Amino acid sequence: MKKAFILNDVALLFVLLLLGGTLQAQVAVQHKLSPVDKAKIDSLMNQMTLEEKLGQMTLFASGWDVTGPVVGTNDKKLIMEGKVGAILNAYTVDYVRDLQRMAVEDSRLKIPLLFGYDVIHGHRTIFPIPLGQSCSWNLKMIEDAERVAAIEATAEGINWTFAPMVDIARDPRWGRVMEGSGEDTWLGCKIAAARVKGFQGNDLKANNTLLACAKHFAAYGAPQGGRDYFTVDISQLTLYESYLPPYKACSDAGAGSIMTSFNEIAGVPSTCNKWLLTDLLKKEWGFKGFVVTDWTSINELVNHGVAENNKDAARISLNAGVDMDMCGKTFLDYGTELLKEKKIGMDRIDEAVRSILEAKAMLGLFDDPYRYCDKSRQEKEVMTPDHLSLARKMVSESCVLLKNPGHMLPIPEKAKTIAIIGPLGDSRKDMLGSWSAAGKWEQSVTLLEGIKNRTGDKTEIIYEKGCNTNDNDRSGFEAAVKAAVKADYVILALGENSWMSGEAASRTSIDVPGVQNELAEVIVNTGKPVVVVLFNGRPLAITKLARQPVAILETWFGGTQAGNGIADVLFGDVNPSGKLTMTFPRNEGQIPIFYNVKNSGRPYNPADSGAKYVSRYLDGPNDPLFPFGFGRSYTSFIYSNLAASVDGHKINITVQVANEGEFDGEEIVQLYIRDKVGSITRPLKELKGYQKVLIKKGETKTIAFSLTTDDLAFYHPDLKKYWEPGEFMVFVGTNSAETLSTSITVE
Ligand code: BGC
Repeated sequence: MKKAFILNDVALLFVLLLLGGTLQAQVAVQHKLSPVDKAKIDSLMNQMTLEEKLGQMTLFASGWDVTGPVVGTNDKKLIMEGKVGAILNAYTVDYVRDLQRMAVEDSRLKIPLLFGYDVIHGHRTIFPIPLGQSCSWNLKMIEDAERVAAIEATAEGINWTFAPMVDIARDPRWGRVMEGSGEDTWLGCKIAAARVKGFQGNDLKANNTLLACAKHFAAYGAPQGGRDYFTVDISQLTLYESYLPPYKACSDAGAGSIMTSFNEIAGVPSTCNKWLLTDLLKKEWGFKGFVVTDWTSINELVNHGVAENNKDAARISLNAGVDMDMCGKTFLDYGTELLKEKKIGMDRIDEAVRSILEAKAMLGLFDDPYRYCDKSRQEKEVMTPDHLSLARKMVSESCVLLKNPGHMLPIPEKAKTIAIIGPLGDSRKDMLGSWSAAGKWEQSVTLLEGIKNRTGDKTEIIYEKGCNTNDNDRSGFEAAVKAAVKADYVILALGENSWMSGEAASRTSIDVPGVQNELAEVIVNTGKPVVVVLFNGRPLAITKLARQPVAILETWFGGTQAGNGIADVLFGDVNPSGKLTMTFPRNEGQIPIFYNVKNSGRPYNPADSGAKYVSRYLDGPNDPLFPFGFGRSYTSFIYSNLAASVDGHKINITVQVANEGEFDGEEIVQLYIRDKVGSITRPLKELKGYQKVLIKKGETKTIAFSLTTDDLAFYHPDLKKYWEPGEFMVFVGTNSAETLSTSITVE
């Protein structure tokens, strides 16, 4: 940055804001209500009693798929009294129709119910876990997967999904990293918007689109110690720069609802944070949907110690901007008293109710409350061959090749006897991963089956479990070694069980659990070629495993088609192209770990490894095992001729990428920048663009990126976002650590 530019230079600041400011640049997608819907809502608002209004602000659980305490669950009488606005975890046409009938035939005002469900990575056809999907960096495919999820969910009565989960996470101990898109805010925003678009489509009234719910607002992904539900305490600047943008991306993409998070931020739990819910979300961002809490998070304000009791909790959360209470029933129980005592206002209640009715109108529920209850769709549109084939394709695109010494992969034709060894090799229950909605684990394809489907009778396949995932039983080692000895190629299926990640599934140790490392060692000692196929819901600290002379393929939890999609990669039908969206640490001591760190005043220089008074560990390196953006291919991509130039407010970047290996392949070419001197410290690298390109073997492609000065903007201490002129480093490469670099000066 030029020293001449100082923050309080108001005139220059104004010019910069005009030229480069992006804070309010995007206008929220408008929620359109027809005049008929508007008139309907006005008329309902005039007729509703206070209790009926409080009822609309109440969401009950059906009693299926419970993740917290259930208050007044499935109280059919309340539905008929018009005191329920929405139900969660009820699906299938018959069940939903039955509940909807109570609302629209038996209640006084016949207001239809919303039916919400956690459709997180598919409904019946289960796709890879969202973290895995994000490693495809394929926005179109992610959008298409959400489209499929919406088609299947709406065919079973659901009209509201509690997704996308867009929490940025830098701590792999936190089990819910599996639900998000990793550590990078820029990529997280793109994926968040793609997911909203996939769910909501272009027409929310279509019978196969549903309302999205961005969650968990805000910064739920940053609990201290990686422990779920725990305290979040981050600077305002980090909140703005790193954690808030994906929620804003959802709001801009027109997400119909947003969910408050369980955590506090700097002393204020999100569920009663007026600044967050009203000033920022509703006023500054212009969010047009409604705000729902997480499961009993209003009641939990008592535990947080900011409310004396549930009544007090209802008061502060309603006043903060919450529109609907999930499973706590506090608005219904205390709203009338609180209003009488003038502790809450009718305006706030009306605003909340109107926003919920608007969502119902936009879904077309007033036109036809049974529009998502079409039995023929339930039969025809679920788990179709097209859906399964997209799921299979996504499995292979989500796989990340971490290591491939001596081109062990793809599995050579000459491998006539293959041993599949390990606790995840034939574990159907673990294929779907956590949050698998209505997916049936019985219908998932295991690795063993996927491989058998691929090889047919040509190859002998032997399976040995070897050990369990998570205990010290070594009694299966002997048989496993025998199987390896008999085979000429070994696939070791290791990792976590699916219940080890997800909600309330934080871990202090994130190596492969149990005696799996030992199993790997004894199998490697047989001298056979070994490829490790990893199943897990978070980055693992697999330093020990990575030291072995094995190939490692990260496959996450692939969902219904897991085994088939992985086999596609193992046998080279698909050349892996996935790139990590979360850093893999060497050990837990490095956590939190992420690529876009600052330099500090005493940076460690690997060339001077003896230096003491620098920012380093005494007992290990700073750099991770596998960095953000990392992922190998069966072919080799060579980068050259990086060039960058500035043309006014446009920055043009080109690089050549040659495929010098033996396979055609897709490469995710990544663009990072660094603002060399800023008025505040800036990260060493920030992702600003990427292209996923197919490069045939022997071919060289010129990849061009175009940025504008807007892309250089960042938040300042006054929480304004603008760019500063000066010198910028430009990096392009195959991952965040291996890049070419050049520099530009932007005036
Ligand atoms: C989770 C939410 C989820 C809700 C409803 C909560 O425990 O935190 O993400 O949407 O349950 O199932």
